[in-house]
Amino acid sequence: MPQENLEWYQWLHRHPELSWQERETTVYLRGLLEQWGIPVLDTGLDTGLCAVIEGGLPGPTVALRADIDALPVTEETALPWASETPGKMHACGHDFHMAALLGAARLLQQQAASLPGRVKLVFQPAEESSQGAARVMETGVLEDVGAIFGLHVMPTLPKGLVGLTEGGNFAAIGRFAIRVKGKGCHAAQPHQGADPILAAAQLVQALQGVVSRNVDPMRPAVLSVTHMEAGSTWNVVPPEAFLEGTIRCFDEITQTVLDSRMEQICQGVAAATGTEITLEWTARHPGTDNSPALVALAESTARRLGMESARVLPTMLGEDFAFYQKKIPGLFITYGMEGAPLHHPSFAADPDYLDQASRLLAGLAVDWLEGQAK
Ligand code: NI
Repeated sequence: MPQENLEWYQWLHRHPELSWQERETTVYLRGLLEQWGIPVLDTGLDTGLCAVIEGGLPGPTVALRADIDALPVTEETALPWASETPGKMHACGHDFHMAALLGAARLLQQQAASLPGRVKLVFQPAEESSQGAARVMETGVLEDVGAIFGLHVMPTLPKGLVGLTEGGNFAAIGRFAIRVKGKGCHAAQPHQGADPILAAAQLVQALQGVVSRNVDPMRPAVLSVTHMEAGSTWNVVPPEAFLEGTIRCFDEITQTVLDSRMEQICQGVAAATGTEITLEWTARHPGTDNSPALVALAESTARRLGMESARVLPTMLGEDFAFYQKKIPGLFITYGMEGAPLHHPSFAADPDYLDQASRLLAGLAVDWLEGQAK
C-alpha cells in the first residue's frame, strides 16, 4: 500500500480545486472507491462524496471524514508533484487527508468480514468556505452515525504525533464585514463631507480594544481586521469605506461580548464621525468539541498501534468539522506535520506519514465499533 498511497497523494496534490469546484477530485475518488468495490452513496452532493464499507457483523455506524478542497495560493514548493494549476494549491494538507482516508478505506475493506457495523467514508467538499460540513449534514447521510473521526495535519507538532485535545481544539469563527457610509467631498474642503476613512481608521483602533479591555483575560479570543478599502485618488474624500476581518473564540460568553461590543463601537464611531456604519456577519461557525471518551479511545488506539500521542493545546484556526460535532459525538485530531505553516505557498505534507495516518483512522473506526459491540 505505501506505493499506492503515494500515487494518490501526488495525483491529488497536482490537481487542486477550490471549494465547491472539486469535480475532478470527486471523479478521481469515486473511481478508486468503485474500483475497490466500495459503494458510493447517493447523497445529491455535486462535489465530494460519501461511501460505505459494510461490516460482516451487525452493529452501529462510525464515520471517518476527510476534507477535499484546496486554496487560491500559488505553490512555491518546487516539488516534482507540485500543483499543475497556477494560483491553486493544496496548501492546507487536504490532499494528505484524502490519501490517508483512501488508505484507511483499503485497510478496513480488507477486514470488513470481521467488522461489527459499518464505516461511512466522508470526502467533504468546501471546508475552506466553512460550508461543506453543514451541507453534508443536510443530506441526512450521517443520520445513523454514532461517532465521527477526522484529522488535520498540524505544522506546529512533530511529524506523526497524534495530537489530542478534550473539548475545543479549533475555535468558533466569525467573518465580519463593516460598511462605512460617509459623504464624499473635495479633499481641500473636508468640512463639507463626512470622511469614511477617518471613521474606518478609528474603527480599527477601537476594535483592538475589545479583546484587550472587554474580554475576560482567562478566555482566549482574537479579533483581526484584515481587509480595508476606501478611496481611489489623492484629492477626493470618498463616500464609502469597507472593512473585513475575523473573530475567534471558544465559548458563548466571549462570543456575546465580542458581538455586542463590536456593534456598540460601530454605532459609537458612526455618531462621532457623522457616518452610517453597518456590521454584517458573512460567515460563522462553532468551535470543535471533542468528546473526552473519544479522546481516551484514541489514546488507546494510538498505543495499540505503537504511535505516539500527546495532549496538545487548542489553536485559533477554524474547522467546519465542528458542525458534525453539534449532532454526533466526534473527535478531531491534530496530526503532527512540522514544517511551513498551513496556507503558506511552501507548505507540503510529508507523504512518509500517510501510512501511519491511514492505520490511525482505520484503527479508530475498528476500536470504536468493537467497543460498542462489547
Ligand atoms: Ni484545512
